[in-house]
Amino acid sequence: MADHDPHDLLALALRAAEDAGALAARGQAGIAVLDTKSSPTDVVTEMDRAAEELIREVLLGARPGDAILGEEGGAAEGRSGVRWLVDPIDGTVNYLYGRPDWAVSIAAEADGVVVAGVVFAPARGTVYTAVLGEGATRDGSPITAAPRVGLGLALVGTGFGYAAQRRVHQAAVLSEVVPRVRDIRRAGAAALDLCAVADGQLNAYYERGLHPWDWGAGALVAQEAGARVGGLRGLGPNGDLTLAAAPGLFEELHNLLEPLGADRDA
Ligand code: IPD
Ligand code: CA
Ligand code: CA
Ligand code: CA
Repeated sequence: MADHDPHDLLALALRAAEDAGALAARGQAGIAVLDTKSSPTDVVTEMDRAAEELIREVLLGARPGDAILGEEGGAAEGRSGVRWLVDPIDGTVNYLYGRPDWAVSIAAEADGVVVAGVVFAPARGTVYTAVLGEGATRDGSPITAAPRVGLGLALVGTGFGYAAQRRVHQAAVLSEVVPRVRDIRRAGAAALDLCAVADGQLNAYYERGLHPWDWGAGALVAQEAGARVGGLRGLGPNGDLTLAAAPGLFEELHNLLEPLGADRDA
């Protein structure tokens, strides 16, 4: 349907991400915690909310019939068959500390399938895009994931949830992963971790507990760059576990993580 043309959806997502990214970048200096959510370390700033509100205005201004699922609660019901997955600032803790690894992440789902995605990191000046079936780009140039390496030579990204109990188990899983890989990175922004797999800055990435707004755009970028993206036991990249790596390495890391219960909290 012309109404669902992924190129149009991508162009709109890009405009919304650039506007929100510019707003958040202007507001980063001196930013403070406004509120907390699931735990004292799960913070939200004024800019998380303002950026999501701006994205919502841009998206619904152009396409009032669409649905939105946004991290900061900016839900909208829609009947067009298009739903937007919006993380206004992925990497809020980095943003709060003046670190550059944060991004605006916007994905467009058409009839339940992510068809376009944008991850814009203003403080790095980098934008990743992807359209289903058409490849991924960084700053307008095509990107491909790094070729397969053995697990022992893989640079692996991961992240941790905000709940202390989940972190205890995540640390236990990590203690089995660290001795078996080249090294671990914890950058603090899931969308950028997935994009790092897409452009070869990581060989692999895994994390438990992500939400659709965290992985929607980045998973498409990684997949379109040639990585395999999914969960354990053939599942998709849902909240149980999101795993991305070159084919072959994906299976090796899967087979390490599965018996460790990396998709559980204990
Ligand atoms: C978080 C970041 C972090 C990941 C967490 C996410 P937020 O998103 O992506 O890297 O480890 O699981 O919740 O809260 O900064 O948008
Ligand atoms: Ca996020
Ligand atoms: Ca966020
Ligand atoms: Ca958050």
